[in-house]
Amino acid sequence: MNAQIFLLYYKVHIGTWLLLLIVFGILFLLYKWKIPFANRILRTTIWLLYLAQILSGAAILYTYKFQAQYIIKGIISLILIYAMEVILRKTKRNRSGTSAYWFIWFTALSIVLLLGFNVGINN
Ligand code: HEM
Repeated sequence: MNAQIFLLYYKVHIGTWLLLLIVFGILFLLYKWKIPFANRILRTTIWLLYLAQILSGAAILYTYKFQAQYIIKGIISLILIYAMEVILRKTKRNRSGTSAYWFIWFTALSIVLLLGFNVGINN
């Protein structure tokens, strides 16, 4: 892959993950407190951010020649996205049973951040 295009994907990846978590937190609180403010816009935004993370992550993974630790990071990132979706859907519909998904969310996020920042990996 062209170095400049790789840099673009990389910047998208590191530039949007925190934003994704912030939009998730805001949407969760809006649903929890039943505040009908910009819900549609934020919902669409978070889906676009999921897409940006997945596409840019896949591009980085490709450039890194599918090294095992990044394949694992990618899979756990998908589990994290799944947990966020379930939490948002359940909270919106006032359903119980989110605690197991919060546990998955927390565990997956911890692993994704550690692997994303190469903690404990000597390259
Ligand atoms: C919710 C989704 C995701 C989050 C929160 C996330 C978070 C992160 C973070 C924090 C980093 C480190 C960025 C930095 O160095 O400043 C990173 C890097 C990376 N991510 Fe993700 N990511 C997500 C999805 C994905 C997906 C779906 C894939 C693969 C298909 C992926 C593959 C990678 C790769 C290969 C790196 C590069 C690691 C390195 O250069 O050391 N990510 N990600």
